[in-house]
Amino acid sequence: MKVFVNKRIPEIGIEMLKEEGLQVIIPENENLSHEEWLEYCKNTDAILNVGGDFKYNKDFFDACPNVKAIALYSVGFDHVDIQEANRRKIPIGNTPDVLSRATSDVAFLLMQSVARSASYNFQKVKNGDWNAFDPLHALGQELYGKTLGIFGLGRIGFEMAEKSRKAFDMNIIYHNRHRNEEAEKMLGAKYVSFDELIENSDVLSIHASFTPEHKELFNSSVFDRMKSNTIFINTARGGFHNQKDLYNALVEGKIWGAGLDVTNPEPMSSDDPILELSNVCVLPHIGSATIEARNGMARLAAGNIIAFSKGEKMAACANPEVYK
Ligand code: DGY
Repeated sequence: MKVFVNKRIPEIGIEMLKEEGLQVIIPENENLSHEEWLEYCKNTDAILNVGGDFKYNKDFFDACPNVKAIALYSVGFDHVDIQEANRRKIPIGNTPDVLSRATSDVAFLLMQSVARSASYNFQKVKNGDWNAFDPLHALGQELYGKTLGIFGLGRIGFEMAEKSRKAFDMNIIYHNRHRNEEAEKMLGAKYVSFDELIENSDVLSIHASFTPEHKELFNSSVFDRMKSNTIFINTARGGFHNQKDLYNALVEGKIWGAGLDVTNPEPMSSDDPILELSNVCVLPHIGSATIEARNGMARLAAGNIIAFSKGEKMAACANPEVYK
């Protein structure tokens, strides 16, 4: 069975595939054009997909009838039309759990960085702009006892909530499609409506899966209703927020600051005015970028391909309904 891997992943995953006798195809030049990528896909049985550049939609599945399984090297699957995959009984593997710690660590890091303008102040030091001690300068805010609002309380949201509760005794409120009983029991998390979430959070952190109805849900009408001390954190997908509206909300003091590991668009331009603001910290989508998480993702994604090759169910699958 041929497996196309569009970008090199940690060796452990490649070794696993080879040990099973699978034919692994990795392009020498990993920056494939859409046409080049499609050519590789047409000639393969399964794909181990890295990144969100290529879309798996009806046009793709029509053009590549040989593809019978896709294992994503990501937990997010917003670049896949799941209904089309279901129609064709194509399992779509993903990589939950193994990256929850690493991604929530980045949300936690951004929350603190923005509360104390850490990256802005670091930049000032680098620019030789370290002035005399000033009691009224560079004042951040403390997080102790504040309210953390989680939009999408799944595995990553749970980790973020747990860390924030342990470190800062934060109150947890959340809005989700379903109640999270474990978080309610273990963290005292309180389920609230979306309106209550945005109006009461001192820190609002997004951890939901991105779907088309979420497109720019966090826009001026939402930022207008947040508290002026709110820190907005997005480590999920840039599409959740309207970046111009976010910029305006920050400049007008509607909210305190923003920590972004994902941007809209992504990658964002280096001359985006949001980067000039003192109350912003932006990272280049590094949520899962730890050795531990990336190795875990490689094992899980390769394991999903191997399971498929043996006619077994994938261990982590975004559309388990294909197995019914
Ligand atoms: C994920 O796993 O979804 C990360 O955002 C990397 O794409």
